[in-house]
Amino acid sequence: MGRKFFVGGNWKCNGTNEEIKKIVSTLNDRQVPSSDVVEVVISPPYVFLPLVKSLLHPDFHVAVQNCWVKKGGAFTGEISAEMLKNLDIHWVILGHSERRLLLGESNEFVGEKVAYALSQGLKVIACVGETLEQRESGATMDVVAAQTKAIADRISDWTNVVVAYEPVWAIGTGKVATPAQAQEVHFALRKWLQTNVSAQVAESTRIIYGGSVNGANCKELAAQPDVDGFLVGGASLKAEFLDIIKSAT
Ligand code: G3P
Repeated sequence: MGRKFFVGGNWKCNGTNEEIKKIVSTLNDRQVPSSDVVEVVISPPYVFLPLVKSLLHPDFHVAVQNCWVKKGGAFTGEISAEMLKNLDIHWVILGHSERRLLLGESNEFVGEKVAYALSQGLKVIACVGETLEQRESGATMDVVAAQTKAIADRISDWTNVVVAYEPVWAIGTGKVATPAQAQEVHFALRKWLQTNVSAQVAESTRIIYGGSVNGANCKELAAQPDVDGFLVGGASLKAEFLDIIKSAT
């Protein structure tokens, strides 16, 4: 298959200088597979980016949790892709469900953000996922396909895109998707890419799972053929994050 396993740690809106120094030193101890086997990206809140960048072993990459949809300027509170390059930060998480739902980021807006970030040379973790209501109404693939289409309509090169399937009903709830549920959507997403983009993109694009991943459930999820890694929230702030990285198959 040839897709390098990918594990992202999304620290969301958490951390203090002291807590972050502790987490980073745990990671730097690095009893984890080498970067040839697994690609690890850590995403702290904006304010801790320079600190994490300065302390984290270069085997780990640093990501920002969002960035603006165009060149910087009179956009109070935003940060631009150009600033990230200035900080030597190459990854960005875009379209997280918490931003889609809490801040009203539409599929089209997320698609524009992904396109702009890629145009500025950033690598993107693009998040998609359905709510519990959408799943219970049988709309999961319609929703995830529409979110993915809004990206596919705006980009031509998927080399620097990782797709994160994060069912909203599993985020922060402890209700992790079963391996079968995750595999079903990942497989369908890969088929969507094959049909609507290309066989090469479908084969090479990493599709990672997020939503209540922890040290206990990661192995079974990682064993699924179309699960290429994880985007981890709560557990990425704990030592068990190393177990999740080690689940790289
Ligand atoms: O971006 C990852 C995040 O949404 C998953 O959160 O806490 O359920 O692992 P959590």
